[in-house]
Amino acid sequence: MADTRTVTPTVPPTRTRGAELALLGGDRAVPKDIAGGDWPIVTTDDERAVLRVLRDQPLNAASPGEPEIGRLEAAWAEHTGTRHCVAVASGTVALHLALRGCGIGPGDEVVVPALTMNATAHAVHAAGGTAVFGDIEPGTYNLDPRSAAEATGPRTAALLPVHLHGLPADMPALHRLATRLGVPIVEDAAQAHGARLEGRRAGALGTAGCFSLHPHKNLPTCGEGGLITTDDDDLHEQLVGLRNFGEHAPAETRSYISHRAAFNARMAPVAAAFTHSQLARFDDYARRREPGIRAFVDRLAQLPGLRVPLIPSGRTHAWHILRLMPQPEALGLGPEHRTGLRAALHRVLRAEGVPVSQYQVAPLPAHPAFRPAGMSEADALDRVAERFPVTAAVVDGSLCLQRRHLDPAAGPLLERYADGFEKVWQHLDLIRQMARSRPAPGWREVLRKG
Ligand SMILES: Cc1ncc(COP(=O)(O)O)c(C=O)c1O
Repeated sequence: MADTRTVTPTVPPTRTRGAELALLGGDRAVPKDIAGGDWPIVTTDDERAVLRVLRDQPLNAASPGEPEIGRLEAAWAEHTGTRHCVAVASGTVALHLALRGCGIGPGDEVVVPALTMNATAHAVHAAGGTAVFGDIEPGTYNLDPRSAAEATGPRTAALLPVHLHGLPADMPALHRLATRLGVPIVEDAAQAHGARLEGRRAGALGTAGCFSLHPHKNLPTCGEGGLITTDDDDLHEQLVGLRNFGEHAPAETRSYISHRAAFNARMAPVAAAFTHSQLARFDDYARRREPGIRAFVDRLAQLPGLRVPLIPSGRTHAWHILRLMPQPEALGLGPEHRTGLRAALHRVLRAEGVPVSQYQVAPLPAHPAFRPAGMSEADALDRVAERFPVTAAVVDGSLCLQRRHLDPAAGPLLERYADGFEKVWQHLDLIRQMARSRPAPGWREVLRKG
């Protein structure tokens, strides 16, 4: 057990020194009426783009001559620096079709990180394969290449790293592994629009890149949508068929002949027009939000015992989600207080108006859908705790900020959030007391409750 007696963190000067916690009746660090934090931002340009489709254009992507899907595809291929882009119904569908296009089917195993949105593993199972899991790295929260290697075996047919929260995974190491195994890499770039690794964009770092256009994502749509990027001409042709009942790409008229089993996975032209209009502002938004987020992260990095996102050199962060990981040991607590610490901070920060939340409440391999068949719940959970210790600690111990910082005008709001953190860090004695006296459910309890 950690020695909890000797640690006395020093808290840097703060403009909230001496202020009482909002939880105990003090003023909130984040005023209720502060502006900023809207996402997505919908402009008159976006409205015009949608109205143009509603008034004058085909409403379905399969209609001959429909222009919006092709426009968005060309623009996103250019943005990512890839030869092709295929627009589909959602990010989950993008992953599913990319895996099928890479030949994944029954009997195949695909390596997925234990910390990601459940869609990543569902896409593998929908393709007929089985997701096998690797643990994450503690600083980046991305798939650990060594753990990924341990998860591989004779059935490994692809690697599916996630650029979690907007930071590219360790692609050089994963490429070495994929090359050794002779398997493709499908990138889950659902959260990483615009992120770069050694100058190349997410989506151009594997055989195929998959993006979500969920309205909460950095590049949103009005409804659902997804994009798949690739440099592979053959894969591109397959994807075009797979999104439309396995038919060949329509020439003048549609053939209605299915060459392989597939669904309707098309994106709506209205949604494509909206996203294309958003894309015109995408780089500007990313540039404008960067200083506010940097300043916020830099202030939080001064707080003892709080780990801010790590960005290894050569990579840029798209800042989809900001994950913050308090370190119990550095705050004078033991690892057994991890969930209590997270819950205490959640409570006091939210009272201050800082909207922290948990993102993913259990390691993915512990979800009933992804446990080894026939294994008891108790054995399955013990196995997850043993094999995915970093993911287990991160889901139990960290808190996230989502979406509000995507507004490029959110700088002042983020300053107030930083005030909130600094204020709370002035009251670490109370936080410690709360963490010790009120243990909170961890991922095992959450799963048992179901
Ligand atoms: C990492 C990750 N993968 C896949 C998806 C699925 O995308 P969609 O919601 O568009 O199906 C998401 C969406 O939240 C995601 O965050």
